[in-house]
Amino acid sequence: MTRPRKLYVKSYGCQMNVYDSHRMADMLAPGGFVETATLDGADLIILNTCHIRERATEKVYSELGRLREMQEAAASEGRRVMVAVAGCVAQAEGQEIIRRAPAVDLVFGPQSYHRLPDMLARAEHGKVIDTEFPVEDKFGQLAPPSRGAMRQRGIAAFITVQEGCDKFCTFCVVPYTRGAELSRPVAAIVAEAERLADAGVREITLLGQNVNAYHGDGPDGRAWTLGKLLHRLAEVPGLARLRYTTSHPRDMVSDSDDSLIAAHRDLPALMPHLHLPVQSGSDRILAAMNRRHTRADYLDVIERLRAARPDIAFSSDFIVGFPGETEDDFRATFELVSEIGYASAYSFKYSPRPGTPAADMAQMPDDVASERLQRLQREIDRLLDRFNAGCLGATLDVLFEKSAKKPGQIVGKSPYLQSVHVMGPTSLIGQIHPVTINELGSYTLSGTLAGGASRHGEAAVLAAAGA
Ligand code: 5AD
Ligand code: SF4
Repeated sequence: MTRPRKLYVKSYGCQMNVYDSHRMADMLAPGGFVETATLDGADLIILNTCHIRERATEKVYSELGRLREMQEAAASEGRRVMVAVAGCVAQAEGQEIIRRAPAVDLVFGPQSYHRLPDMLARAEHGKVIDTEFPVEDKFGQLAPPSRGAMRQRGIAAFITVQEGCDKFCTFCVVPYTRGAELSRPVAAIVAEAERLADAGVREITLLGQNVNAYHGDGPDGRAWTLGKLLHRLAEVPGLARLRYTTSHPRDMVSDSDDSLIAAHRDLPALMPHLHLPVQSGSDRILAAMNRRHTRADYLDVIERLRAARPDIAFSSDFIVGFPGETEDDFRATFELVSEIGYASAYSFKYSPRPGTPAADMAQMPDDVASERLQRLQREIDRLLDRFNAGCLGATLDVLFEKSAKKPGQIVGKSPYLQSVHVMGPTSLIGQIHPVTINELGSYTLSGTLAGGASRHGEAAVLAAAGA
C-alpha cells in the first residue's frame, strides 16, 4: 500500500476561497491525500490565492519564494514537494506565475478545480496550467466531503450557492477571475445542507460574490430567489442559524419581489447581522464605480431591513481614494458610516487592478488616500467599540463552537458574529445557550451562562449602541 500523502492548503482572501479549499481537499481525499494543518512534511502544497488588491497578490509571490527553499531542502533528502497555485491570482496571472516562480508545478483557476486529480497526475511529468472556464458544471463534479472532514471543520460551515459576477464595478477583478454569474440548483444546495446538518453543523453561511442575485432552479421548475431558498433551508432539521454573504444593495429588493426582506422578518434562524457593502457614500463616486445605486437607494434598503427586523446590525466594505475622490466625496462616505452606525466595517485604500476600467483613470496621491483611510478607520473603530459596549449587561444567544485556550473555557459566536467566551462544559459545544455579557476584550466578549429560557438581548444591544 502507498503511504498517505500530506496535503497543505493555504487560503487567502474571501470565504469562498475557504469553501473552495475544503472542496479541493475533498477531491484529493479518495486519492490518499490527508489534510494537515502545517507546511511541515507536506507532499502537496496548494496556495488558494486572492487577486482583489495588489497586496493580496504580492503575498503569494513572497510565499512562493519561501516554498522554493523548502522544496529544495526536501529534494536534497530525496523527497518531492509539489506546489500548486489556485484561485484568483492563478486565474489572472497563470503564465506569469509559471515564469516568475520556479517552485510551481501546477496552476489552476477557481472554475477548474474539479479536475484536480487529473491535473496533479499530469503535473508529475511537467508544468500544468488550467485557467479555462469549462462548460461543464464544476459543482456537479465535486466529491462530497467525508463525515470525518465535515466534523473536523466545525459547527459552522459555508455553502457556495452563487458564484461569479455580471455587475462590473469599475474597481473589481471578480468578474474576470470568477467569471459570469451562476446559481446552483436548489436541490443540490439542500442536499449539501442536509449532509452538513447530519454531520453536526448548526450554522450555515450561504456564499456568493453576489449572493442575493441568486436565481437557481427550484424543484418546481422555476427560478428561486435567495429569500425562498432561505425559507427552504430553515426547514432542514438541525440547522439553527443561517447567514449569507456578500450582497449587492441593488439585489436586496426589486419592484416585484421583496422575499429576501421578508425572510429577515419571518425566519428566526436568519441571523440579524448583514454584510451589505456600499463602498462609498458619494453619489458621484458610486456612479464612477458603476455601482448602479445611489446613497439614497442604499439608505432605503437599510430602512426596509430595519423595519423587517428591528434588531438587525450591519457591516460594510468601503474603498477610499478611488480615482477622482474629493474631500467632499470622502466626507459623504464618513457621514454615511456615522449615520448608519455600523456594528463593524472594512475599509480599503483603492488598489488599481490590471484590466479593470478604474485602473486607467487618473489616480489619487497615495498620501491623501492613506490619510483618509486612517480617518475612516478611526470612525469605524469608534462604532465597533460603541456596539460592543452596548452588549455589556445584555443576554445574547451564543452558538458554542469549540474549547477556548483557557482551561474550562468554551467559545462561540453571538448573532452578530462576535466571539463570546464563557466558563462552561464542552457538552455545550454545538448548542445555543444564552450568555450574559460582562466583559469586553479587544476583539472578543466574555460572559456567564444565563439560566432559564433563552432571552434575546439583541434589541437592547442595538438601543445601547445608539443604532
Ligand atoms: N481596491 C481596493 N479595495 C477593493 N475591493 C474590491 N476591489 C478593490 C480594489 N481594486 C474591496 C471592496 C470589496 C472588498 C471585498 O474588497 O470593498 O467589497
Ligand atoms: Fe479574492 Fe475576490 Fe477572488 Fe475572493 S473572489 S479570492 S475576494 S479576488
